[in-house]
Amino acid sequence: MMLSKKMTQAINDQIGYEFYSAYLYLAMSAHFETQNLKGFAAWMREKFAEEQTHAMKFFDYVNDRGNKVELPALPQPSGKWPSHLAVFEQSLEHEQSVTARIHKLYELALAEKDYATQSMLKWFIDEQVEEEKTVTEVIEQLKLIDSRGTAVLVLDHRLGKSAEK
Ligand SMILES: [Fe+2]
Ligand SMILES: [Fe+2]
Repeated sequence: MMLSKKMTQAINDQIGYEFYSAYLYLAMSAHFETQNLKGFAAWMREKFAEEQTHAMKFFDYVNDRGNKVELPALPQPSGKWPSHLAVFEQSLEHEQSVTARIHKLYELALAEKDYATQSMLKWFIDEQVEEEKTVTEVIEQLKLIDSRGTAVLVLDHRLGKSAEK
């Protein structure tokens, strides 16, 4: 059974938003490259890759249901942040907006009694819990270490390691 017109439109929008997420993380990665924080940059680059897989999950799903993917335009992501903390705070804010969007999609799937889409979205609902948790941890640690240089370098190293996995 094909997706409704409304659902197709909503998922196509979400494909764009996931690519925008990827683009935003890539901008953050570029920002940390200029600060010589290679670990932070690698972590953001890993997020960039992850968000593209999210977009492609939705892409494949639209195709699997026999509908047509139409890609929206992407906004330009911001490129400057006043502090390391501000980057991760924007990342959390962004993930929270993604979570709200996924929940809206789920509500639409409920309203349309579209059980297959509900099932597909469950993976994203769980994924968002994980993503918000991970970014929150980094924010808490950055707040603890404040701007002490050596501690920032330790966290940079740790995030670089975690991006290698
Ligand atoms: Fe995502
Ligand atoms: Fe995400």
